[in-house]
Amino acid sequence: MLRVVALALVLVACGKSDPRAAAASGSGEAGGPARADGPEVAADDQSRFDQERQPELLMRALGLKPGMTVADVGAGTGLLTVHIARAVFPGGHVVATDINPSVLEYLHARMEAAGFDTVVEPRVVQPAEPGLEADHYDLILLSQVDHYFDDRVAWLTKAAPALKATGRLAINNRMQHRAAAMAAAGSVGFQLVTEVNDLPGQFVAIFQRGPAPGRAPTPKGTP
Ligand SMILES: C[S@@+](CC[C@H](N)C(=O)[O-])C[C@H]1O[C@@H](n2cnc3c(N)ncnc32)[C@H](O)[C@@H]1O
Repeated sequence: MLRVVALALVLVACGKSDPRAAAASGSGEAGGPARADGPEVAADDQSRFDQERQPELLMRALGLKPGMTVADVGAGTGLLTVHIARAVFPGGHVVATDINPSVLEYLHARMEAAGFDTVVEPRVVQPAEPGLEADHYDLILLSQVDHYFDDRVAWLTKAAPALKATGRLAINNRMQHRAAAMAAAGSVGFQLVTEVNDLPGQFVAIFQRGPAPGRAPTPKGTP
């Protein structure tokens, strides 16, 4: 009972309802590769999310391309993940992490319904552990999740090695979390590449990795 109440609170916090309940209502969503047999997806759920969050603005800011590998940290039930999967398809891969295994079950159902279950890998992680492979990701996206971290600096320090040399970190959250997010990223050595503030009540800050700790940047032209 407690587990059900806890899950309901998380779903409300993330602005989502149960996609399987909506699936029973027979609504559907267009999007991924065609599927003949999958369950229907909650179009009303998705369209409410899309209206409120306007994820196309976030996708434009992120500049994702087919073939990219993305970590969607704190992915929840996958209402944003589906947009990321569509942007990196074909050839791309999304690792969708969350500390709550129950929301990842919903996420998996949503990806199956959209035909992106081979693109998106749900992964349960511990709160203080990013759980991401080293030197692997073109983008690590923290969307409306960094304010849950007990220690942003410690989390980002652990996550930084998961980026490829050319990889980027993107933090998207409500404006009231901007100052803490920017300070944490800066103190870990991330360098701000661009910031986009045209999303409703949200900021998007995109960073690249600074030089590895203990390694001085090489001057241009030096072998
Ligand atoms: C507000 S929802 C955001 C969902 C989605 N990223 C979005 O932008 O709509 C926050 C999610 O982050 C998850 N979360 C909280 N702390 C986390 C952590 N330390 N690591 C990974 N996920 C976490 C929660 O379980 C929840 O599903």
